[in-house]
Amino acid sequence: MSTQTSNSGETTPGHSIPNPVKVTTQTVVEMKQKGEKISMLTAYDFTMARIIDAAGIDVLLVGDSASNVMAGNETTVPITLDHMIYHTQCVVRGVDRALVIADMPFMSYQVTPKEALTNAGRLMKEAGAHAVKLEGGRSITDTVKKIVDAGIPVMGHLGLTPQSIYQFGTYKVRAKEQAEADQLLEDAQKLQEAGVFALVLEKIPSTLAAQVTKQLHIPTIGIGAGQECDGQVLVVHDMLGMNKNFSPRFLRRYADVESVMTQAVQQYVEDVKNKDFPNENEQYA
Ligand code: KIV
Repeated sequence: MSTQTSNSGETTPGHSIPNPVKVTTQTVVEMKQKGEKISMLTAYDFTMARIIDAAGIDVLLVGDSASNVMAGNETTVPITLDHMIYHTQCVVRGVDRALVIADMPFMSYQVTPKEALTNAGRLMKEAGAHAVKLEGGRSITDTVKKIVDAGIPVMGHLGLTPQSIYQFGTYKVRAKEQAEADQLLEDAQKLQEAGVFALVLEKIPSTLAAQVTKQLHIPTIGIGAGQECDGQVLVVHDMLGMNKNFSPRFLRRYADVESVMTQAVQQYVEDVKNKDFPNENEQYA
């Protein structure tokens, strides 16, 4: 994806991309048509969003995985709409270019389509999200239609949908059996018909993800769903190596930030204890 520099070459304070061309929901659909892969990462706060956006990511997901990585919960179930609004506000302030999608948290869209629309509206109006993401297939198509009809872009999410963890009972790969695979293929089609602009496929066999990707004209974004998806998403703390206890097969670690942070903090503690920090250049006369 290219970026444009304005005639004046101005940059936004705190950002390194000069007047970037913003990624929209149309952009990601066009990327599929052009065969250009879509990069997506999660973000939950201003600083991380600013760095990731400036590094050139296409899509930032304010995932309800904030419940795990930011709040320390075991599942995504406890996070609230107000929490998601707060995280989304922080991310939006850090972003110049990327498309920002906010997860609708558990029970913010399952009760009625009307309530779902109200809550999606809050993520757009109060938080500044550019789109929302919902988990589920045929059971949420009326809700998806209602939200899309109001002018709010919706991303779908099939496969391992973490909000249903208490129903699944395990985080293992989904749709390995033919019956569940057939259902997922149908759900994907139904979601596309309901108006989603893109679809996350989480932890399903790569052959099935390839089939879904071929079947749909909207882009698929995979996490543990293989290389045939139109794009890939990872939880940023996982790919940066900030959570050493989490190492599923699909995860590639691009850094060892936990070690870098640990060493930096240990050095700081030592310097303070040894009265090495601050030195004369690090204090005021
Ligand atoms: O909440 C999240 O981080 C997600 C991604 C894993 C797709 O939904």
